[in-house]
Amino acid sequence: MKILGISGSLRKASFNTAALRACHELMPQGMTLEMAEIGDLPMFNQDIFDAGLPESAKCLRAAVTAADGVLIASPEYNFSLSPVLKNAIDWASRPPNQSWQDKPVAVFSVSGGPLGGARVQYDIRRILGQLWAHVLPRPEVFIGSAQGKFDAQGKITDEATRKFLTDLLAGFGTWITRMQKK
Ligand SMILES: Cc1cc2nc3c(=O)[nH]c(=O)nc-3n(C[C@H](O)[C@H](O)[C@H](O)COP(=O)(O)O)c2cc1C
Repeated sequence: MKILGISGSLRKASFNTAALRACHELMPQGMTLEMAEIGDLPMFNQDIFDAGLPESAKCLRAAVTAADGVLIASPEYNFSLSPVLKNAIDWASRPPNQSWQDKPVAVFSVSGGPLGGARVQYDIRRILGQLWAHVLPRPEVFIGSAQGKFDAQGKITDEATRKFLTDLLAGFGTWITRMQKK
């Protein structure tokens, strides 16, 4: 099962990217994770799209299309999505062959605030739902107060956080199998 990981933060020391990287070792057997590059996408502009897809957008669309599932780790910016994540979703969303159609997706969020990005997840679910992606409903994983849950190298130090992600990934595997049967 090929999973494409998308982090909604470009920060080098991003907690979301660190959590996504940690998923490599928390995944069930048979699942692999490749990280998407979204930092070099231009801001979406229909004129650029119409003039011919930039290489970065082509790569992202192809990677989403080829993946069995997409795993999104998202920060919460002012109660919603970071602009880079929304931009990536938009680049992959335009017809023909919009990449989110029927794609299994799992979402989790990591934030410095105590709610762990509870609000951003519902915006992501709403956006991807209308693109006909199949977003895993549960378990929901919100990793709050992230400063105390990672070490300086980005390794997860909090056992409960590792368990939440492990359960999410197991549930995602089952979800993908179920969606592929449809
Ligand atoms: C523009 C901006 C807006 C933010 N808004 C929120 C917010 O609404 N809720 C929240 O919990 N944290 C908010 N934060 C703090 C982030 O949770 C924190 O910076 C977190 O570390 C970002 O994720 P990252 O470590 O993956 O970059 C905001 C940060 C930025 C830069």
